[in-house]
Amino acid sequence: MNLPFAEPYRIKSIETIRRSTRSERDRLIVEAKYNLFNLRSTDVFIDLLTDSGTGAMSAAQWAEIMLGDESYAGATSYYKLKDAVREVMGFDWFLPAHQGRAAENVLMSTLIGPGHEGTGKVVPGNSHFDTTKGHIESRGARAVDCTVDEAFDPELERPFKGNVDLGKLEKVFKEHRREDVPLCIVTVTCNSSGGQPVSMQNLKETSALCRRYGVPLFLDAARFAENAYFIKLREKGYADKGIRDIAREMFSYADGCTMSSKKDGIVNIGGLICFRDEELFRRTSTYNIMYEGYNTYGGMAGRDLGALSVGLRESTELEYLEARIGQVARLGSKLVEYGVPLLKPFGGHAIFLDAKRFLPKVPKEEYIAQTLAIEVYLEGGVRGVEIGTLLADRDPDTRENRYPELELLRLAVPRRTYTNDHMDYVAAACANVLERRDRITRGYRIVREAPLLRHFTVELEPAR
Ligand code: F0G
Repeated sequence: MNLPFAEPYRIKSIETIRRSTRSERDRLIVEAKYNLFNLRSTDVFIDLLTDSGTGAMSAAQWAEIMLGDESYAGATSYYKLKDAVREVMGFDWFLPAHQGRAAENVLMSTLIGPGHEGTGKVVPGNSHFDTTKGHIESRGARAVDCTVDEAFDPELERPFKGNVDLGKLEKVFKEHRREDVPLCIVTVTCNSSGGQPVSMQNLKETSALCRRYGVPLFLDAARFAENAYFIKLREKGYADKGIRDIAREMFSYADGCTMSSKKDGIVNIGGLICFRDEELFRRTSTYNIMYEGYNTYGGMAGRDLGALSVGLRESTELEYLEARIGQVARLGSKLVEYGVPLLKPFGGHAIFLDAKRFLPKVPKEEYIAQTLAIEVYLEGGVRGVEIGTLLADRDPDTRENRYPELELLRLAVPRRTYTNDHMDYVAAACANVLERRDRITRGYRIVREAPLLRHFTVELEPAR
C-alpha cells in the first residue's frame, strides 16, 4: 500500500495539558464573565485562540536561543537574521520590531504620518487585519477594502479568495490624488477573509497597477509561507517550483513588507519591516529607533533574532508546510464529515465555523459567534475566538452595534503544537454541540464594555 503522510519531526519535549470537567467549566465560564480571553490557559484543554506566538520551536531554534548575542549594536544574531531575510524573502534592507503591529506602527509613521483627519487619505488593501486598520485609521486615513466579492460567500469553493479586486483598486486610485494614497497593503494569506491565499497572478497584476499609479505596494507577510504553499498547490505553473522560489517571487512584486514573525517565523515574539529601497529604510529607521529599538535589534532580544533566522527557513520547507496545512485541513474535513457548517475552502492557519448556520435560533442581537465559542468551550475545554459582532464593535458615530455579514468562530491551529488526535477531539466537541443545537436558542447580553477593542475585555451574561 501507499505509505501515508506523516509529520517530518518528532517530539522532544512535552507540556502537560489538563482536561477539566464539564461542571468545572460551567463554573469557570461564569467567573470569566463569558469572555474566553478571561480564562486562565490552565483551564483550557486545547487552545485554538490564535496561531500567533503559540507555535513550538525546533531544537535548532532553541539552540539559537542559547547562542543569542545580546550586544546592543551589531550582534551576530542580527546578522544571522539578515542572511535569512535575504535568502528567504529577498530583501536587502530590514528592521526588526517586537511584533507585527509594532512594524505597522513604524512603517505607517513614515508613509502616512499623523493628523490626516478629513484629508481624504486612503490605504487600499484586501481585508486589512485589525491592527493594520488601526494604525491607518488612528492617523486619520481610511482603510479601503478591495477584496474580491467571492471572499464574502462562505460556501463558495475558490482557490484564491484572498485576491485583490483590481477594478476596486483602480477605482480607489482614480478617485484619489496620488499623494492621498501613501501605500497599498496586500495581506498574504488574508486572515480577515478566512486565512485565504492570494495568487501570484493577482500579486503581479496588483503590483503592476500600483506601479502605474505610483503607489508603493507592501505585503503583510505574517503567513507568507502558507500563501506560497497554496500557490504551489493551486496555481498553474507552480507545482514544480520550490517554496522559497515562490516566496521570493511573491516578495519581488512588492516594495517591502511588514511581518508578524509570531506566525510564519515560528517564534513566540518578533516582527520585521523589509524594504527594497535603501532611502525608505533609512527614513523609517528613525521611527524604529524611537519606538522599537536600535536598527540591529528593534525590540527583540538577540536570542529571538537568532531563533527567527532559523524559523524563517523552517517555515519554508515543503514537508513542514504539508504537515501544517494538512493538519488544519484534517480538522476541517472531520468537521465537514460531522455536518458542521464552515467557511470554504479551509484556511491555511484556521478553520472558521459559520455560526449563523450553526446556531440559527440565536438572535443576532445576542452575539451568535460568541455563543458558539462558549458552547464549544463548555463541551470540550476548546478555546476559539469570536469573529463576529463583538469584534465588529459599534459604529463610532451612532454607537449602534455593527452586524457583520459573517458571524464566525475561528479555530486557529498553532504550528507544530498539537497532534492530529487533538484535532479529532476538537472536531468531536464541535459535533456534540451541533447535536444539541436545537436547544441553544438564546445568547448573551453585554454587562460591561470598553469604548474601543471591546472584545478583549467585554463582560457578558446570559440573555433571558
Ligand atoms: N497582520 C496579520 C495578518 C495578523 O494576523 C496579525 C496578528 C498582525 C498583522 C499583527 O501581528 O499580533 O504580531 O502584532 N494576528 C493575530 C491573530 C493576533 O490571532 O490572528 P502581531
